[in-house]
Amino acid sequence: MSKKIFSGVQPTGNLHLGNYLGAIKNFVELNNKKENECIFCVVDLHAITVKQDPKELKKNIRETTATFIASGIDPKKSIIFNQSMVPAHSECAWILSCVSRIGWLNRMTQFKEKAGKDKEKASIGLYSYPVLMAADILLYDATHVPVGDDQKQHLELCRDIAQKFNNDFDSPNFLKTPEPLIQKEFSRIMSLKDGLKKMSKSDPSDLSRINLTDNKEQIINKIKKAKTDPMPMPSDQKNLSERPEAENLLGIYSSLVNQNLEKSINDFSGKNFSEFKDKLSDILVNEIEPVSKEIERLLNDQKYLDDILLEGSIKADKIASKKIKNIKQLIGF
Ligand code: TYM
Repeated sequence: MSKKIFSGVQPTGNLHLGNYLGAIKNFVELNNKKENECIFCVVDLHAITVKQDPKELKKNIRETTATFIASGIDPKKSIIFNQSMVPAHSECAWILSCVSRIGWLNRMTQFKEKAGKDKEKASIGLYSYPVLMAADILLYDATHVPVGDDQKQHLELCRDIAQKFNNDFDSPNFLKTPEPLIQKEFSRIMSLKDGLKKMSKSDPSDLSRINLTDNKEQIINKIKKAKTDPMPMPSDQKNLSERPEAENLLGIYSSLVNQNLEKSINDFSGKNFSEFKDKLSDILVNEIEPVSKEIERLLNDQKYLDDILLEGSIKADKIASKKIKNIKQLIGF
């Protein structure tokens, strides 16, 4: 069955192995299926929900675009564009924010995490971030949205918003409720320094993550320094959750070699971490180094990247402006 795929990545720098294994690798697989229609968005409007340096933002928009292409998304087959070039996203977000309930947004755990203790000082944009995300998806009648595990709650909210809109305006199935595509295993990659914390762009320690722009030496060094525990490699899944760092590294390994956790545990059962880490480094270098080199190459051709975004935004705008026109008509504008 053909799927209409939509997903987004924030251009906030430091795209990492979590983004890659949790989302981008899945984008590539979906892009490679002939029957799918895929749209991948560099969500710069989401990025400005926290303060950005304009020069850095511009650079990061190109870097995220380069990362999509370097990872294997084909811009001839999929639409790649940046959100701010298609005005319907902002318009639709406003309209949907009038349908969304404050109580729903108050439950969003990502806002609580990102706003930290001093919620009063967070931007309104950070609070309504999931409504803009719903607009992104609903404008394109997306049927499936590939994301990492941390975005599950936002997708449930998107479905609620779509249903309330359809009810309020007596238009069953006008906004399509999308299905999340979240990998069953390894959809949450953790920090290399703390197995209980998500691998994140904003972690102050660069050693906590493998960046997709890291070179061979950096990757090897980060895996060498990754936190483990004093015991040998686990021999079964029992009590593995009490060894979060071991579980995370084995998860990364399994995801990269495309096998289940049980098989990876068997491969290294009782061995020293150092032996496992050598193997993991090799596999990571094999997978990430070509991506990193290709990102570097593409970043030297800014015109190529800007043209991809321009072409993509023209195609995206065609779809989104039609939908927003129908939305406006429906609500009486
Ligand atoms: P962003 O840029 O924070 O993350 C991009 C994608 O990477 C996934 N991800 C992870 N997966 C596994 N382990 C991790 N440690 C990890 N860290 C990040 C995220 O789940 C995400 O899939 N709000 C979205 C961007 C967005 C969007 C959309 C997505 C805006 N509009 C519409 C889908 C549809 C986000 O988290 O971006």
